Amino acid sequence: MKAALEEIAKKAFEELAHSQDLKALDAVRVKYLGKKGELTAILKQMGKLSAEERPVVGQLANQVRADIEEKLEETKLNLESKMLDLRLACETLDVTLPGSKQEIGKKHPLTIVLDEIKEIFIGMGFEIAQGPEVELDYYNFEALNVPKDHPARDTQDTFYINDNVVLRTQTSPMQIRTMENQKPPIRILAPGRVYRSDAVDATHSPLFHQIEGLVVDKNITMSDLKGTLEVFVKRLYGEDSVVRFRPHHFPFTEPSAEMDVQCFNCHGEGCPLCKGEGWIEILGCGMVHPKVLKNCGIDPEEYSGFAFGMGLERIVMRRYNINDLRLFFENNVRFLNQF
Ligand code: DAH
Repeated sequence: MKAALEEIAKKAFEELAHSQDLKALDAVRVKYLGKKGELTAILKQMGKLSAEERPVVGQLANQVRADIEEKLEETKLNLESKMLDLRLACETLDVTLPGSKQEIGKKHPLTIVLDEIKEIFIGMGFEIAQGPEVELDYYNFEALNVPKDHPARDTQDTFYINDNVVLRTQTSPMQIRTMENQKPPIRILAPGRVYRSDAVDATHSPLFHQIEGLVVDKNITMSDLKGTLEVFVKRLYGEDSVVRFRPHHFPFTEPSAEMDVQCFNCHGEGCPLCKGEGWIEILGCGMVHPKVLKNCGIDPEEYSGFAFGMGLERIVMRRYNINDLRLFFENNVRFLNQF
């Protein structure tokens, strides 16, 4: 039995010396010291020994167990430190390497200016409204006082989905949708995409953006319209901006006007930017037509309102001196990176 114990110690030490990882180490532990291990098996036979032999063999067995345990622990520490060295060697980090640059996206120029315009109107108590781009003919035309045979339809080259459904040609249907769902006082700004069947060139695109405004309350007058829009222009183009209102016609407003800003390049002298006019047209506006109010269930005897609509692209082109509308939609990164 003594010889068997010594043999176990020898074999265990050898196997430990050849163990390459912690898993192999554990296998050795189980093989010799585990419940069904070789050393344990020998200890179970101690009962068969004589009274004199038992303490001697017992002591030897304990010694062998202690030796194996000690060697196990030592090998384990060795292996762990070797593995750490290995990891450190292959995970080296060169802190002097140049960083990899993250490209950060930017706001589209249309969004930059739209956000600015929204901020200006929110500052005057307006709320932002949104509506569908695929719109009922009723909202895009009928309810806005443009019946089926009205000549104004010709000027808005409409994409028809079917007889009753169009791609909205203007953001004005948002006036109707708002008044149908909301009681005065109403103060909304409705920006969005609009569509017209135009051939693409430097100043035309079948898709562009408008910003609609609507105010309805008791005692709203033309001077509210003028004051609001003048404040807007001064915030957008600077306090020294000069505006003028020209009579115009829109089916859904009465009276109607167009608002011009004095050319901020030549201050009214006439230059290429304003095409020699001295003035630049900014938007259409007017007092909401009583028929339109009635169409939405609002009593024109009690309430009045004003509305306005402007094209976003033109405003942004003037702001950044962009001469071709197509640049907005081609998503050329060299163009977009300039903003
Ligand atoms: N919807 C008009 C257009 O597309 C612009 C417009 C003019 C909107 C006058 C208005 C307005 O709200 O009052 O040409």
